Amino acid sequence: MERTYLMVKPDGVQRGLIGEIVGRLERKGLTLIGAKLMLVTEEQAKRHYAEHEGKDFYDRLMTFITSGPVFAMAWQGDQAVAAARQIIGKTNGLEAAPGTIRGDYALHTNYNLIHGSDSAESAERELGIFFQESELVGYDKTI
Ligand code: CMP
Repeated sequence: MERTYLMVKPDGVQRGLIGEIVGRLERKGLTLIGAKLMLVTEEQAKRHYAEHEGKDFYDRLMTFITSGPVFAMAWQGDQAVAAARQIIGKTNGLEAAPGTIRGDYALHTNYNLIHGSDSAESAERELGIFFQESELVGYDKTI
C-alpha cells in the first residue's frame, strides 16, 4: 500500500473545486486518510518546493502557494502516486489531457489547481511537512 501527498492549491480552493477534485480521486478507488484546510507557512513552502529554488518561477510559486488557503490531503492505495498523477494530468494545463483535473480546469502552469507527489519517496517527505503522523487515519476498507 502506497501513500501520496496531494494539495488543492489556492486557485482550486477559491474556484470551489475541492469537492470535484476529492470526488475524482475517490471514484478512482484511492482512500482519503487525512485532510485539512490550512495556510502554508513560508517555512513549509520552502521545504516543499526546495528542489525548485533558483528557478525563474520560484519566487512566483512561493508567493502563490502562501497567498491563501490550500486543502492538504493524504491518500493511500495501490500505486497511489502514479494513480493520482494520472488523474491530475500534466503540469501545464494546456498540455494536460482532457479528462484529467488540469486538462479540464486549468489553463496555466502557475495556476494548475493541485500538487501531487512525484514519487513514493517525495510523498513521505511531503506528508511529513504538512501532517503529523497522528493526523492520518490509515485503514482497510471493509465494504
Ligand atoms: P507543482 O506540481 O506544484 O510543482 C511545482 C510547481 O511549479 C508546478 O506544480 C507549477 O505550478 C509551478 N511551475 C511554474 N512554472 C513551472 C515550470 N516551468 N515547470 C514546472 N513547474 C512550474
